[in-house]
Amino acid sequence: MIGADRYRTHTCIGAADARGDEVRVAGWVHRRRDHGGVVFIDLRDRSGVLQLVFHPDAGDAHVRAQHLSPEDVLSVSGHLTERDAETVNPRIPTGEVELHVRELTVLASAAPLPFSVEDEHTEAGEDIRLTHRYLDLRRPRRLAAMELRGRVLRAIREVLEGEDFLEVETPLLTRSTPEGARDFLVPSRLQRGSFYALPQSPQLFKQLLMVGGIERYYQVARCFRDEDLRADRQPEFTQIDVEASFVEPRQIQDLIEDVLVAAWNQVGIDLPRPFPRMTYADAMERYGSDRPDLRFEVPIQDWTEAAGGSGFGVFESVIGKGGVVRGIVIPRVGADMSRKDLDGLIADAQLAGAGGLIWAVPDDKGGLRSSIKAPFLEGLPEAFGVTAGDLIALVADAPEAALKVLGTLRVRWAERYGLIPEGTWAPVWIVDFPLVEWNADEDRWDALHHPFTAPRPEDEGDLATALAQAYDIVMNGTELGGGSIRIHSTDLQQRVLELIGMDAGEAEARFGFLLRALELGAPPHGGIALGLDRMVMQLAGEASIRDVIAFPKTATGADPMTAAPAPVDDLQLRDLGIRTRAPRPEPSSEGSEASE
Ligand code: AMO
Repeated sequence: MIGADRYRTHTCIGAADARGDEVRVAGWVHRRRDHGGVVFIDLRDRSGVLQLVFHPDAGDAHVRAQHLSPEDVLSVSGHLTERDAETVNPRIPTGEVELHVRELTVLASAAPLPFSVEDEHTEAGEDIRLTHRYLDLRRPRRLAAMELRGRVLRAIREVLEGEDFLEVETPLLTRSTPEGARDFLVPSRLQRGSFYALPQSPQLFKQLLMVGGIERYYQVARCFRDEDLRADRQPEFTQIDVEASFVEPRQIQDLIEDVLVAAWNQVGIDLPRPFPRMTYADAMERYGSDRPDLRFEVPIQDWTEAAGGSGFGVFESVIGKGGVVRGIVIPRVGADMSRKDLDGLIADAQLAGAGGLIWAVPDDKGGLRSSIKAPFLEGLPEAFGVTAGDLIALVADAPEAALKVLGTLRVRWAERYGLIPEGTWAPVWIVDFPLVEWNADEDRWDALHHPFTAPRPEDEGDLATALAQAYDIVMNGTELGGGSIRIHSTDLQQRVLELIGMDAGEAEARFGFLLRALELGAPPHGGIALGLDRMVMQLAGEASIRDVIAFPKTATGADPMTAAPAPVDDLQLRDLGIRTRAPRPEPSSEGSEASE
């Protein structure tokens, strides 16, 4: 126990076990009610809520209790008593007891609150809640998320420590580590004009730790990426970063299954093992995505052959140009949809990037409603496993475009039409990714993961078509983590860098330190990183990553509480040898206009 009994002898919940005793508790005024002379206060601490009762015979304590405000901080002592039968509240753990207070100390009083923390839900907007994040954290749901995050982290550490992984910290002031986002830069004062980059991941350091003989490394690593934010992205986030020497992909995957099983156990769920595996090619072909949501089936089907001789102009011309017709069948939802609803689906498809969409719904009399006159469709549905009332959605386009659209629609419609069973968990390993993909905009090859990923040994001859020894772990359609076996020879590393358009000079300038290390006895090694925030977000059932981070950033990368980012004074800039070209933001704004 911390400290003596000055502030408290029990937590609010702990006090419930001390019936008949004198106890002292401390916490915040959660709720106050005056009942004809008797004052009731729900006192809240991290453990929960305890009812305090101030009788008029408590004298001074009773008088002062009448003037307490929400969120005042108190220490109180008195007699812990059983409640009368009719006032028992079975919904809370302390519902059978109450504390009859004799002594009250106000440790801090609270000014009027910008929003109430009393209820589970608040009308207050996110901006005001983030400005007073410490208040928002007092709400039970936020607190529960923080506690869950702490428990999950501890469980993960236990698994990794149990397997002899060593926690090692790597630098935050470093050089760029390419993970596909922009860097956050930190100017150097001692070397004016030079910048550190905050790590997008500890990727290169963990590889160098393997060259350094650490063999099994992990880190709860803060990573920084300057990219557009989404519901599951933050500019700084936490990875469970892992690397090991002398391993095959399977060993890393088994370890991560242990980690995820332990994490999901924290919410009472047993994930069945082993997790299924799917190749990247299959995932793209069947689900139009490399992070398929497998909580529901609805695969993408190939209707090209069936549509080929349909006589339907759009299909025939797309197919004639090397395109395809792909479709999905959403069970049962079509029967109750009006023509207007069904035509609305075309807008969904266009929003997802399609030129158009053809829908059809067979009825139970052998007929068919559809967006086009399509005799060819009659009789076909059965071949595709369609039954009366199912919704058929067809897209004709270039193969990749059609898959992408249907991959998006599959998930969107499953959510909208209630196809996703509550409380199901569908982990899947995606394997056999291509090593590189063609970037048509930039006219060059890009690494699909990062350029340190090893190709399969049998594919080393032709790197442009090689499959990588890479693996992603996907849960319910979200990418939780990704990793690979790494390149551990200088020669192969140079070839990959060259393939992605880096000439020897640039490779040397940016990654010379890695190339040197690979020359000096680098063991075969590989690893993975899991996104902790995303994981906790799923476990807590929260829709936003911000809900599981103590002090998150808004969509513009700002922290309304501290008003970061903020302009700095000219003297600081002069020290750093920097002049900004951006106009100075108004002092009252979020300060999100970054300086150049
Ligand atoms: P990757 O870039 O796939 O791999 O990142 C690993 C995991 O980190 C999480 N993640 C994020 N979470 C929140 N906000 C973000 N902006 C964000 N970006 C990524 C995701 C993702 O799966 N060095 C490699 C790992 C390795 O090869 O070992 C890497 O960083 O859950």
